[in-house]
Amino acid sequence: MGGKSGLDTFLTVGCTTCHNGPLLGGNNYKKLGILNEYADKSDKGRIEVTKEDYDEFVFKVPSLRNIALTAPYFHNGSQKTLEETVKAMAWLQLGKELKPAEIADITAFLQALTDKPRAVAKK
Ligand code: HEC
Repeated sequence: MGGKSGLDTFLTVGCTTCHNGPLLGGNNYKKLGILNEYADKSDKGRIEVTKEDYDEFVFKVPSLRNIALTAPYFHNGSQKTLEETVKAMAWLQLGKELKPAEIADITAFLQALTDKPRAVAKK
C-alpha cells in the first residue's frame, strides 16, 4: 500500500475523467485506446451505428457499480480480471504505467462498489 486509499488513487490517476457521476460511468462515450492503441480492431465501436468518423473505436464508458460481479471486461470480454483491466485502462486511456500497489489499491476500491446483499427475513 502506498498509504493512499483506493479512491484517492482512482481520482489522482484520472479515472474519473470518464468514469464519473453517481454510477461512475454510464453517461458518455469515449474512444478505447486514447494514449496507447488498443490492439484488437475487430470491433470498431459506435461508428458502426452513427457512421461518423469520430466514433471509430468509441465505446460506452461503463458504470463501475457492481463491477466485481461482471467479469470478463471490455466490449469483447478480453480482460479476465479486474487487476488486468485496471492496468490496461491506465495504459490505454491515460498513458500511465501503474505500480502493482496502485493496481491493488484501485482494485480494492472497485471491489467496494459491490452492493451489499439484501437482508433475508429470518424464519
Ligand atoms: C478516456 C476515458 C476513460 C478513462 C480515463 C478510463 N476509462 Fe475505464 N473505460 C472507458 C471505456 C470507453 C471503457 C469501455 C471499453 C470497452 O467496452 O471495450 C472502459 C472500461 C472500463 C472497465 C471495464 C468495464 C466493463 O464492464 O467491461 C473498467 C473496470 C474500467 N474502465 C476502469 C477504469 C479505471 C480503474 C480507470 C483509471 C485507471 C479508467 N477506467 C480510466 C473509458 C475510460
